[in-house]
Amino acid sequence: MRIGVLTSGGDCPGLNAVIRSVVHRAVVDHGDEVIGFHDGWKGLLEGDHRPLDLDDVAGILARGGTILGSSRVQPGHLVDGVERAKGHVADLGLDAIIPIGGEGTLKAANIFAEAGLPIVGVPKTIDNDIASTDVTFGFDTAVGVATEALDRLKTTAESHQRVLIVEVMGRHTGWIALHSGMAAGAHAIVVPERPFDIEELAARVGARFEAGKRFAIVVAAEGAKPREGSMEFDEGGRDMYGHERFAGIARQLSGELERRLGKEARPVILGHVQRGGTPTAYDRVLATRFGWHAVEAAHRGEFGMLTALRGTDIVMVPLAEAVKTLKTVPTERYAEAETVL
Ligand code: F6P
Repeated sequence: MRIGVLTSGGDCPGLNAVIRSVVHRAVVDHGDEVIGFHDGWKGLLEGDHRPLDLDDVAGILARGGTILGSSRVQPGHLVDGVERAKGHVADLGLDAIIPIGGEGTLKAANIFAEAGLPIVGVPKTIDNDIASTDVTFGFDTAVGVATEALDRLKTTAESHQRVLIVEVMGRHTGWIALHSGMAAGAHAIVVPERPFDIEELAARVGARFEAGKRFAIVVAAEGAKPREGSMEFDEGGRDMYGHERFAGIARQLSGELERRLGKEARPVILGHVQRGGTPTAYDRVLATRFGWHAVEAAHRGEFGMLTALRGTDIVMVPLAEAVKTLKTVPTERYAEAETVL
């Protein structure tokens, strides 16, 4: 069998572990050939690729980023690329393509699968918002990075009697904010799923100071929004999917809380540090299992499917199902966190 693999969309710790696993399972156990496309879908559309053998994936398990490179391509644009992609797939004699990616990549994968290409998807994103899998690799690493940052920020906040508003990634969902906020014992968490009331937030933070505490930490998912009418809000630009971007929630909130509480506040934007560097052991294992199962699905001819974690098992789910909706933070999960804030 000849298998093509690509990584697309925002990078995430664990991508190299999937590539390595695909190559090992395919080459060692099945005697397959593997081809890596450069820079995501772009490589498939432009026929930009290279062979991947065991030597190419040696020593990459613990390395962040992706040895294949990545890029963001708008799924809509790919509709025009279907014929071009089909041409390259036929020329290369590929029997399967394994795209590793998040929301946008999987939407594109579904377009290609519906057009008849032999696709087996692998989900990734630090945001953990892919609906069909319990967890995506990269999330555990990102939560670890954010938690360590929050732990460090507490000591400087306390020294200066400040409010620190720490913005973590999560355009549409608040998983990183929820988990890092719980793990670090933050004093308030705001997530996109639950628009916040600025009065309530200020009261919660203010109550800490009134109780004699010297600092407060607020964790804000980048996509968090004030409740309608609760606060004037400047819109940032829009990303390629038409979603608001760089809304600057930490800056907005620090100005607002400083004004309302009369306490010094500072925004801290963690940004891409959450996506870089070496994956945790958990993410390496999950990524390796996804790669292994993707190759197996290809050999069974199960195309138009996605690897997913359900409990402790890896299962295959239809791509079309997986891209219908995002996995958001349920109200009860937020309630658990709120009790311990
Ligand atoms: O999709 C993952 C993500 O990390 C989002 O949380 C974040 O908004 C976005 O990527 C940033 O993307 P870029 O690297 O293109 O700025």
